[in-house]
Parts: sequence; C-alpha cells; structure tokens
Amino acid sequence: NIDSKLSITVVGASGDLAKKKIFPALFALYYEDCLPEDFIVFGFARTKMTDEELRNMISRTLTCRIDKRENCEDKMDNFLKRCFYHAGLYNSEENFAELDIKLKEKEAGRKSNRLFYLSIPPNIFVDVVRCASLRASSESGWTRVIVEKPFGRDSESSAELTRCLKQYLAEEQIFRIDHYLGKELVENLSVLRFSNLVFEPVWSRNYIRNVQLIFSEDFGTEGRGGYFDKYGIIRDIMQNHLLQILALFAMETPVSLDAEDIRNEKVKVLRSMRPLLLEDVVVGQYKGHSKDSKSFPAYVDDPTVPKDSLTPTFAAAALFIDNARWDGVPFLMKAGKALHTKRTEIRVQFRHVPGNLYKRNFGTDLDKATNELVLRVQPDEAIYLKINNKVPGLGMRLDRSDLNLLYSARYPREIPDAYERLLLDAMEGERRLFIRSDELDAAWSLFTPLLKELEEKKIVPELYPYGSRGPVGPHYLAAKHNVRWGDLG
Ligand code: BG6
Repeated sequence: NIDSKLSITVVGASGDLAKKKIFPALFALYYEDCLPEDFIVFGFARTKMTDEELRNMISRTLTCRIDKRENCEDKMDNFLKRCFYHAGLYNSEENFAELDIKLKEKEAGRKSNRLFYLSIPPNIFVDVVRCASLRASSESGWTRVIVEKPFGRDSESSAELTRCLKQYLAEEQIFRIDHYLGKELVENLSVLRFSNLVFEPVWSRNYIRNVQLIFSEDFGTEGRGGYFDKYGIIRDIMQNHLLQILALFAMETPVSLDAEDIRNEKVKVLRSMRPLLLEDVVVGQYKGHSKDSKSFPAYVDDPTVPKDSLTPTFAAAALFIDNARWDGVPFLMKAGKALHTKRTEIRVQFRHVPGNLYKRNFGTDLDKATNELVLRVQPDEAIYLKINNKVPGLGMRLDRSDLNLLYSARYPREIPDAYERLLLDAMEGERRLFIRSDELDAAWSLFTPLLKELEEKKIVPELYPYGSRGPVGPHYLAAKHNVRWGDLG
C-alpha cells in the first residue's frame, strides 16, 4: 500500500547506526519487494562524499537473506543505483535547500512521500527538523521523521525536546523509534497473551509471582564511551527498551489493534506504576579483568570517559504497578554491559500449586517447582515453559522439563531485523510500535526522581569484573522481594 514515489533521507548517513542498521534494513525491504517501485534513498551528512563513495560505503554492509540468495548481486546493484548523497551541515537551511532541489529533480513533479531518518545526536534534532521541514517538504504526499533515542535525559529535557520538535512538526509526523519494539519476540508477546486461552486468564497477580526483564551484553561501551557516560545504562536500556516491554506485557486488553488503542493502554499502565525509589535499585560499573591471557578494559579506561565516572554500566531495579491486576507483583529489571553473555529475556515466574500433591517430591524448595515462562528475545529466539514432569520409570521421580518452541527449528526462515519492521511501519503510517509523546512523559516520570537522586547523592556503583555475571547487589534486591533470578538456572 505504499504506492506513490518515496524518498528516504538518512540524515547522519556516515554514522555507525546508518551503516550497520538503516541502509541494510532498507536494502532488505527492497530485497523482499516491500519498497514502492519508485523509491530513492538519499544520504545526508557533513562528510564530503560522492554518490559513488556512499554506494561503496553502504555496499560493505548489505547482505541477502540466506534462504533466498537468487539474484542477490543484481538486486544489490539496482538498490545501490537508487542511492544518492548530499553533503551538508545539520544547521544549514541552505544545505537542506540544496537537498530539496535534488529531491525534487528525482521526484520529477510526481506525488511523492518523504521519510527522514534522523540518525544523529539529539542535540541537533531540532536544527535538522527546522531546516528540513521548511525546505524539504514536498508539495504533495506526506513527510515523516523518524527519531532515535535518547529523547532527553530526564522529564524536563524530554518535554523541552518534544516542545521544540512540535514547533516544526505535527505529532503525527514524528515517529519515535524504540527498536526493541520491532523485535520478533517482543511483537509476539501480545499474540502469545491475547490469542491463547491458556495464557491471558493467568496473566495477573493471582497466578504470577514475579516478572523479570533481563538484558545482558558481553561487550563494554568501547568506542561509545563519550555518549554512554552522559546517559548510563538506566537511560540507555531500562527507561526505554525494558520499560516498553514491561508496558506491553502488563497493559490491559486494548479495545483493538489500532495504534491509539494500544498506546492508550500502555500509557495507562505506565501511569499506574510507582516512581522508582533508590532503595529498589542497585547500580554497578565494570572494572578491568584478565582471562586466558587476554585483558579486558575497565569502563573508566575508555579515554572518552572521566577516570572518576560514577556512570552505571549495570543496574537492577524492582518496579511495581499499583493496579488491580498487578498489585504486589515485583517486576524486576536487570541490564548490564560487559557481562558473561549476550541475552535478552522476559521471564515469568508463576505461583506455587496450592496444596500440591507432589510437594514431598520437591523437598523443601518449592520455588524450584513453580512454572516459568521464558521468552528469549535474543539470541536464538525461543519461547519455553518450564513444567514439572514425571521421569519415566517405575519410581516417582519428578524433574523440570521445557516445553520448547525454538524459532530456528520451527521457523527456519531468517528473522528480519527490528529496523526492517519499523522502517516499513513508518512508511505505511503504522504507529503501533512507535512511542507517543505521553508515553514518553510517563516513562520519564518513573525514572527522573531516581536518576536525580543517584546523581545528587553521587551513589558509587558496585564494581564487577568485565565478563562476569555482574555485581552481587541484585541478589539482595531480589531476595528482599522474595524473588530468585531465573537466569541463574
Ligand atoms: C541501543 C543501546 O539502544 O541498544 C545500546 O544504545 C545497546 O547500548 C543496543 O547496545 C542493543 O541493541 P540490540 O538490538 O543489539 O540488542
């Protein structure tokens, strides 16, 4: 249904995100025949480059789907032929006017839609929007702008950014991306819950003991220290990616699958949450570590990070939703860089079976016998349910087994990257997976008081070795709420 001509301008085209994610996602959409017949891609950045140089740069990161390799080279050539470049300053109306002339030349007087992807630091969003929306909006067709986080550092700066953007754009034109919402398993969360009778009825405090949202990366902030030090892991991962998953997980049933209906429910649940307290948060920072004669740097070894930085690279938090469905259920989050593994999971631990007939077979540790539903968002996407099962044989021995839906076995096709889904949605005007400004406000309200307190009180993060399981603080935090982290087995 994207029938007219489409021009996609990637502002910040020479940056990492553009090279690694956006151009490859655009190519993948082209490869899957999801772009309109008549499309062009423009790169815009400060670096001086010719069209040919941009094409060379992009071509290094384009790949074809493993299961559909036919015509790959031809497709790449055709895609690259439609890519162009214009060098300019982000705050120059003149440079955007030049871009506009080039866009118009290619549009050749036809109805044309324009999508701008701002793959640039947030302090220049407003400059670009001011220059681009004045100069580069086409006479016919829509103009939409995709912006990437960080959307401010707290409630005030986020509200200010929204206010400035709205001077130049209508809310319907702004597509705030959170790429976690485009991940296959995150999208599937609602399908799992709302289209299976066995889940929705147990989706409440009556059956669920706690919910855990776990994000772990096995690499540090190498190369991104300058950005990261201003934000820290709570702003980088928790306030957006993990909170968005939480909102989808915990929201009430929306009236329909319409974007506004879904976002209304997300806002409601976010507004039912208690702002975080310092006592319900643990912060950590990785230190250098040597293993197998390899040494891994500390966070503060990064030359762009101050030696005395207190910025957390790890955090764990307990959050609560004060509504009828979730009263008293801890939602635990854990996010960290430079840990032992790369994994994102949603873990749902269920309550004990009342009056369990098989109690004695579990010894004293009934916690180990409760059901647990796990959605492994990445890597190796999977959904599994831990159940108790009789070990075959003459005796009565029980063990824990998994009912396991491993995506690679069930769906051998390659899973599209989150950016493909989200770019396609933006082109189609589908806003379901984008963040509305009131959602953003609600998300910041939960975290702003805590972030201020952490900074004002100069809370010292607990150090943990690079490549470890992180600090011990989260175990005490979990124990305080009667929870055991599920990712420890
Ligand atoms: C980004 C964060 O939003 O998400 C990064 O800024 C993080 O710090 C990245 O590494 C993780 O995304 P993914 O898709 O690789 O899990």
